[in-house]
Amino acid sequence: MSTLIANIGELVTNDPDGTGLGIVRDAALVIEDGEIAWTGPAAKAPAADAAFDAGGRAVLPGFVDSHAHLVFAGERAEEFAARMSGRPYAAGGIRTTVERTRAASDDDLRANLRRLIGEMARQGTTTVECKSGYGLTVEQEERAVRIAAELADEVTYLGAHVVPAEYQDDAAAYTRLAATDMLAACAPHARWVDVFCEEGAFDADQAREVLQAGIKAGLAPRLHANQLTQGPAVQLAVELDAASADHCTFLSDADIDALASSQTVATLLPGVEFSTRQPYPDARRLLDAGATVALATDCNPGSCYSSSMAFCVAVAVRDMHMTPAEAVWSATAGGARALRRSDVGHLTPGARADVHVLDAPSHIHLAYRPGVPQTHAVWKAGVQVR
Ligand code: NIG
Ligand code: FE
Repeated sequence: MSTLIANIGELVTNDPDGTGLGIVRDAALVIEDGEIAWTGPAAKAPAADAAFDAGGRAVLPGFVDSHAHLVFAGERAEEFAARMSGRPYAAGGIRTTVERTRAASDDDLRANLRRLIGEMARQGTTTVECKSGYGLTVEQEERAVRIAAELADEVTYLGAHVVPAEYQDDAAAYTRLAATDMLAACAPHARWVDVFCEEGAFDADQAREVLQAGIKAGLAPRLHANQLTQGPAVQLAVELDAASADHCTFLSDADIDALASSQTVATLLPGVEFSTRQPYPDARRLLDAGATVALATDCNPGSCYSSSMAFCVAVAVRDMHMTPAEAVWSATAGGARALRRSDVGHLTPGARADVHVLDAPSHIHLAYRPGVPQTHAVWKAGVQVR
């Protein structure tokens, strides 16, 4: 079964062989067996079993949301409201969600995860990374990664999210647990290991202990780095060849240099700065230094309860001075790099057929029309999901 998407006004291919968005105007593409089989000028499009008229709209690769915390119960609207009246964001708020999550049934967690992934798909997100980190016991973390693996594309073990209340006076013992029994229970369900390396969470030595154990267990590292302070986490991410250093809100010159001369992607999460009223990360300095930048939502009930990649693009352009082209690339191909995936984030033959038809003539409208739903149709792996 093949499907022709015809009459595309602007096709963003992110062709890995070119630079930037690899735009083709007046284009068409063919989906076959869940993959992109052909792209090119509309006039040369081959015949297919079915056709979809894009009506001159822009077509983009589905968003790749490379950072989200979606296995949780409850919400923290009151904490958000307090923050907006001046209370700062602190790592400890995570414990509120831990309590709610521990008390929830598997089915409740699964239903909430399904709801959020559905919400993402309806907004054009076709690849979702999902972390554990609201369980913080061996059983609860195992349950979180197991449920995440049922529905998310990429699963990350984040047992070292924060030290839970019952280990408050013995962070070393909790770190050891996260690097041994908890890791062993979670590794079969995950591809990635992550640590929140920050004041109020885990220091660099503790983060290294968990990440190195994760690497030994066959997981690949990524890191919550420099979200609240200019700490050591970015350097640690680069040292361990982490796929991504996420947040990067407070960076030194040495951090920028380290990222620029590494394979570690700087994943920026502008929804967090928006929702915690923090300064935005300096995307321009990173890009101008030659670092690879990804954009992701960090969707979670605490620091940013938004699943909207379009919102991230708009904020990145308006407040972080990324160009619309840079922001769209970072939200698609950049996210794929941050997950070390070559099959998503672009629309060239052989890619997974993750297609986002915008109700707009160009990708610029994502930033130009902030807050306006502009997703017209979505295919994930060749299946139309919207
Ligand atoms: O990425 N920084 C650590 N973890 C999340 C926040 C989780 C929460 O506040 O519940 C983040 O911002
Ligand atoms: Fe996060």
